Amino acid sequence: MIVITGATGNIGSKITQNLLDKGQKVLCIARNADKLIQFTDRGAQAATISLAQTDLLAQAFSGAEAVFAMIPPNYTAPDFLAYQEMIGTSLVKAIKQSGVKYVVNLSSLGAHLPDLTGPIKGLHAQEQRLNQIEDVHVLHLRPTYFMENTLVNVDLIKNQNIMGSAIRGDVQLPMIATQDIAAAAAQHLTKKDFSGKSIVHLLGERDLSLDEAAQIIGRKIDKPDLKYIQFSYADTQQALLGMGFSADVAKLFIEMAKAFNEGLIEAKRTKQNTTPTSFEEFAQVFPKLVYR
Ligand SMILES: NC(=O)c1ccc[n+]([C@@H]2O[C@H](COP(=O)([O-])OP(=O)(O)OC[C@H]3O[C@@H](n4cnc5c(N)ncnc54)[C@H](OP(=O)(O)O)[C@@H]3O)[C@@H](O)[C@H]2O)c1
Repeated sequence: MIVITGATGNIGSKITQNLLDKGQKVLCIARNADKLIQFTDRGAQAATISLAQTDLLAQAFSGAEAVFAMIPPNYTAPDFLAYQEMIGTSLVKAIKQSGVKYVVNLSSLGAHLPDLTGPIKGLHAQEQRLNQIEDVHVLHLRPTYFMENTLVNVDLIKNQNIMGSAIRGDVQLPMIATQDIAAAAAQHLTKKDFSGKSIVHLLGERDLSLDEAAQIIGRKIDKPDLKYIQFSYADTQQALLGMGFSADVAKLFIEMAKAFNEGLIEAKRTKQNTTPTSFEEFAQVFPKLVYR
């Protein structure tokens, strides 16, 4: 049995599908029971619990061959790092209590840095917490910026023929499709091909700038003049607040954008950490979103 936390999210849902396709036994964890039905209909078990419910979490983990562990985002948290610490500590206690021996932890590019990286700081702290557990093999997956982040621009593209964020348009970013993260996670969870505490970076098919990403999306949706605009930090912060983010999360997102703009968040690309899906393949999703 493999246990997947965040099982209905971007990454967890794709890992679950991947494992069910391979005939693996899976136990899915999330809070919304309706969204778990897609997996229980395919034979998966489900635990409709919060990751903060440590004892129930430990019960769900016990007897598992391997666990996929993640700290889900909570954009309304008044103190985001305290929220990450609360969930992260609960995961660590449940891992210890359950006796599970293999854990694949969703971390992030930039998690080697202790500070100045916004929400990634909390993932750095979670790597340290997991590294303290004795006799458990932990693989930290450090994926780069998700291609799916660009989907937040669909309304801007529809209404104003622009896309944008606080990241500079010319910064070369490694970008990854979440299906590639899920494929790597599923492989490590089934093969259990890691020991001690280790790190795997996942950097997508190539580095590209958000200016280039806009050109690629523009070609897919027959808007060749689609432009990427860098929004000011102040305007971005206001926009995030308008979307319901807490002031603390908005501040941390600006810190992360600065870290990308200043080249702080990076890793060396190798054949091993390069993954297959190109931005051109990912961008095929845009026409049906923009013209639906
Ligand atoms: N975006 C990026 O570029 C990037 C890059 C590197 C790393 N990351 C990391 O990736 C993570 C996001 O992954 P994702 O996109 O797959 O997340 P996501 O789509 O937001 O999914 C979150 C999942 O967790 C569940 N969940 C949320 N709160 C929960 C709680 N308290 N207890 C139990 N389950 C809970 C959700 O279901 P319910 O709501 O039903 O519980 C859902 O299944 C981020 O937290 C970040 O750390 C992101």
